[in-house]
Amino acid sequence: MVSAIDQASLLGWYAQHQRDLPWRHTQDSWPILLSEILLQQTQVSRGTVFWQRLYKRYPTVQSMADSTEEEVLFLWQGAGYYSRARRLFQLSKVVCAGVSAGGFGGRMPTTAKELQTLPGVGPYTAAAVASIAHGEAVACVDGNVRRVMARQTAQAKPSDRSLQTWADASLWKVDAGNWNQAVMELGATVCTPRKPLCNRCAIRSSCTGIESPEMYPAPKVRPKKRVDLMCILLFDSNGFPHLEQRDTSGILAGMWGPAMAQELDVESLDYLGEVHHVLSHRDLHVRVWIGQIGKGVDPTTVPLSSLDHKVLALAGSSANK
Ligand code: ADE
Repeated sequence: MVSAIDQASLLGWYAQHQRDLPWRHTQDSWPILLSEILLQQTQVSRGTVFWQRLYKRYPTVQSMADSTEEEVLFLWQGAGYYSRARRLFQLSKVVCAGVSAGGFGGRMPTTAKELQTLPGVGPYTAAAVASIAHGEAVACVDGNVRRVMARQTAQAKPSDRSLQTWADASLWKVDAGNWNQAVMELGATVCTPRKPLCNRCAIRSSCTGIESPEMYPAPKVRPKKRVDLMCILLFDSNGFPHLEQRDTSGILAGMWGPAMAQELDVESLDYLGEVHHVLSHRDLHVRVWIGQIGKGVDPTTVPLSSLDHKVLALAGSSANK
């Protein structure tokens, strides 16, 4: 039962054991939003590095709106899931547009409902920002919360609806931001997917799944999809590769790189080798051909994904020396 959770115990544990993360020292919703967007698909240790880099260059939403998509993508290099960067840039434009133009006049919206209207902001991010920055009594549901809930209630496959009901009912409304972060922190550091530290758990007394925590939740079986791609690397006489900006869809949206697609005409080119790149849901196998071109681009001046860096490294390109 939800009411059996010892809220004081969890909050006490969080006060003592929370990780010292830089965005926990501010109430400003812009850096908090930045952290939540980065942490959606990036681990905290890596996310912190990118957060520092981005927040230093963009201390305000206005500073990002005054920048360019290309510069945001450049700073996002290596963080992956580049559509997040493009949507964040769009978000900054919407927030900073005048009210008569449908924007927010430079002020970040404060409620979860309004935040959810922004590009790239779903129910989780909206609830996280509204509760952490403004104390709105809305519950966050992410993968960590799901695991804590599944174990507390010993459910292998909790439905989204039961998960939301549990999160809403257990929410400590006096300080929802602190509560949400406490539950997520417990999931990230104690109630971990493998080898959870149950003897250190502040809410073990209400945990129905404590005898066999690794059974809850049942692992989602989602085999990585193999994707075979072809890539053409053309170099000029200075050793600079031909690079083009990719279009706005797909995993490498908006980033620069050599031509890459499932089918390319590689007649008369030399086969160079294969690059293997693993993403969370995809296993990419990129076969690379090499040739010559009149004029290339200095690869250090454009945003390149980690995959593109690997492809260039295969050819020993100057971008990676
Ligand atoms: N994961 C994503 N956001 C988090 C937060 N604010 N606290 C703990 N874990 C998180």
